[in-house]
Amino acid sequence: MSESFHKTLNNWLKDQFGTGLHARGFAIQNLPEDTKAKALQSLSPQEQTQWQDFSDLHKRREQWLLARLAAKICYTDSLQDQGTRPSLSQIEIIKNQSGKPFLQINKKPLATALSITHTDEYVVAATSQNTNKFGIDLEIKTRPIGDWIGRAFSRKESQMLKDCSPTQLLRCWTAKEAASKAFGTGLHGRWHAWQVAEFDSDQIIIKFEDHEFKVRTLETEAFLFSVCGE
Ligand SMILES: CC(C)(COP(=O)(O)OP(=O)(O)OC[C@H]1O[C@@H](n2cnc3c(N)ncnc32)[C@H](O)[C@@H]1OP(=O)(O)O)[C@@H](O)C(=O)NCCC(=O)NCCS
Repeated sequence: MSESFHKTLNNWLKDQFGTGLHARGFAIQNLPEDTKAKALQSLSPQEQTQWQDFSDLHKRREQWLLARLAAKICYTDSLQDQGTRPSLSQIEIIKNQSGKPFLQINKKPLATALSITHTDEYVVAATSQNTNKFGIDLEIKTRPIGDWIGRAFSRKESQMLKDCSPTQLLRCWTAKEAASKAFGTGLHGRWHAWQVAEFDSDQIIIKFEDHEFKVRTLETEAFLFSVCGE
């Protein structure tokens, strides 16, 4: 992902959420060898074991690896001049039973929240020092809208969103994903339980049971990047 994308992304995060958020992304295709080497070196001993045991497809493995590097870079960026920085391999990413990722050093959980997203070819991680209810989601804007998008919204939502363009529908989808990651459950097929309750150009409100989530989206030429975090 280009430096100009990172600049746009991090400036937007600062504008929207203040100073506590950092994001970093990588493109899997044509990844420079030194970036791959850096990612492998950044793994903790436990993560190295996970990497070696990884049985999923090649692309999934690369996504996993680069997400770890991106997350660790975000965390060290967030420290700025606060004392000594840990090495990347001291920082570890663990997950709870639902799959929500957390940062830890020496087995001690860090207060900084982490969220990860990947599309086929791109990986983005972001950290927040502002809230632990934090979730992100990335989509390629030109992703063809398949049949699934019809199933993604309930009848009530479809009525509300009936005049939306494919890009705006995709934006609503990323908002659901980001909100469900902030809550820590993920969607896991419960697409209609996560309802688009309000939709305007600034933000989308997602409701789940009696919880409400505000999601803001950065739209660039190529991507939709949604963030849920107070
Ligand atoms: C599981 C889920 C969190 C994300 O699924 P996904 O499609 O893999 O989405 P992304 O690539 O954006 O996110 C993956 C990351 O989400 C994070 N994640 C997984 N479970 C999570 C949870 N319960 N809470 C917060 N984050 C979670 C992980 O860090 C994962 O990255 P990692 O495996 O490298 O650590 C969830 O929202 C889901 O069920 N998605 C449904 C996808 C779907 O139905 N798509 C249909 C259209 S094709």
